[in-house]
Amino acid sequence: MYQKILKILKQTEGYVSGEQLGEMLGVSRAAIWKGIQKLKEEGYKIEAVSNKGYHLIPSEEIYNGMELQEALHTKIFGKEIYFFEEIDSTNTYLKQLAREGKKEGTLVVAELQTAGKGRRGRSWQTPKGEGIWMSLLLCPHIAPSEAPLLTLLAGLAVCKAIRKQTKLPADIKWPNDILIHGKKVCGILTELDAEIDNVNFVVTGIGINVNTVCFPEELKQSATSLNLEKGETICRKKLLCAVLEEFEKIYVQYEKESSFLPFLCAYKKYCINIGKQVQVFSKSPFQGLCVDVTPQGELVVEKENGQRVTVFSGEVSIRNL
Ligand code: BTN
Repeated sequence: MYQKILKILKQTEGYVSGEQLGEMLGVSRAAIWKGIQKLKEEGYKIEAVSNKGYHLIPSEEIYNGMELQEALHTKIFGKEIYFFEEIDSTNTYLKQLAREGKKEGTLVVAELQTAGKGRRGRSWQTPKGEGIWMSLLLCPHIAPSEAPLLTLLAGLAVCKAIRKQTKLPADIKWPNDILIHGKKVCGILTELDAEIDNVNFVVTGIGINVNTVCFPEELKQSATSLNLEKGETICRKKLLCAVLEEFEKIYVQYEKESSFLPFLCAYKKYCINIGKQVQVFSKSPFQGLCVDVTPQGELVVEKENGQRVTVFSGEVSIRNL
């Protein structure tokens, strides 16, 4: 009911009375009043003036499943949205949904995660209402060995969306961390469910520090938020939509062409590893100069003795960052 009331309030420029709403929706004024209270709880600002009725005060800041659905201009991503005030991890929940057979593009978004997961078994801090914490379900027709490319593509999409929305100089640190002025603003955790030769599904979890202004001591040196970099509040709804719209465009083209090549040039343009001294933490760690990214999405690192090594997974840090 409250969704229907919201729709009418959004379409009405002035005021609409409880009686009119009741007539339009075929319910009592008491039911309308209840619906209005529910909308207020959801964060909508509704003015009530006697003899006139209700008026919705427009606000970009409302962040919930309904608003996201309405603002999204996509064909596949986010057609079904699960929105939570609090959840352990959006990735964990979405994996469960995927196993129940949910469709590609299903999206889980949360205001707060109590057990947010980072890469390599680390945890990921997700303070309430301060960021975009979301997971997207993908069912690509690719070999399991190609799945890491999706994380590079997701990183490219986030980088482009941040640049477009905020004009901030977002960069990619291979494979898919997003940095601004050398500090991490977004992390991506891709989890794969596959058989030897077949991908069942991929869950791409994206965490963007949007409006955090105070980081815990241990993160202050290495993490930042869009708000801190820009000096103003950033609209999460617009940014989330921009990320999904950008990612969908890239993903559809990737599915069609089965190649990373069309994206290599853009990826390299934003990849800050290239031209820098890096440390590679593999089985036998080494350091060298990062010289390129291959069409397969691997990093090419030149050792001091001139030997070139391609790195396809693992942790790579940039020296003097
Ligand atoms: C990283 O370590 O850089 C990856 C961080 C990924 C965090 C996001 S937040 C939404 C999604 N749910 C999780 O539990 N993790 C990812």
